[in-house]
Amino acid sequence: MKNSAKIVIGNWKMNPQTEKDAEKLYTLVSKGVSKIKGVDIVICAPFIYLPKLRKISKKINLGAEDLYPGDVGAFTGEISASMLSNIGVVYTIVGHSERRAVGETNEMINKKIKGALAADIVPVLCVGETVRDESHGYFSVVKAQVEECLVGISRSSISSVIIAYEPVWALSTTAERKDATPMDSREMVIFIRKILADKFGAEASAVRIIYGGSVNERDVEGFIRDGGVSGVLVGKASLDAKKFLQIITEVESI
Ligand code: PGA
Repeated sequence: MKNSAKIVIGNWKMNPQTEKDAEKLYTLVSKGVSKIKGVDIVICAPFIYLPKLRKISKKINLGAEDLYPGDVGAFTGEISASMLSNIGVVYTIVGHSERRAVGETNEMINKKIKGALAADIVPVLCVGETVRDESHGYFSVVKAQVEECLVGISRSSISSVIIAYEPVWALSTTAERKDATPMDSREMVIFIRKILADKFGAEASAVRIIYGGSVNERDVEGFIRDGGVSGVLVGKASLDAKKFLQIITEVESI
């Protein structure tokens, strides 16, 4: 599943509120991307909308926002990787900071990554520190996240994992948020690449690393050109078809 194409992933989170609005948004985006080349386009949407969205466009890759690592059985309220795969889901976010905030651990995320890979779903592993301290402790936070979430992943499957660096302090929903710069991203991407190379050797160079945190149509170019990433994970701006399409077009043009 090696893939070096650029990628734009929308994360709708718990939006929109009706299936009708979900269809409308997805349809607008799918019309706008019909001629886009060389960019993988993914929309991660709430579970309940996925079957409907799948019917709208083949050009957009369908993504989930989470999954449960169990195969089948007594897991009330959960959705498995194979259930997602059976309805055409090909990507899933794992370890988003909003899930970590409600108690998801690196160990749990590790199981989710393995579950996704076993079902041929590309896991988009989110890592990122909550704050930046002057003593640079945030590097060890990210190192622990990367290492613990990837325990037991084989060299042959590591290139199927996407890593999204999402500094929580830069997310659009963080109170008193700050803008991260392409240099913040670049520095962390180099750091993550070193961790991956130590652990997985040459295979790790094929891992796509992307940036997320209030990405918009104005700053996306900087992140792609100077941030060391091959794509972006977009939250808020992915709920506005026009803005999301502008982001995709920017990425295509670079
Ligand atoms: P944001 O969200 O673009 O709204 O900051 C990104 C994310 O949380 O994945």
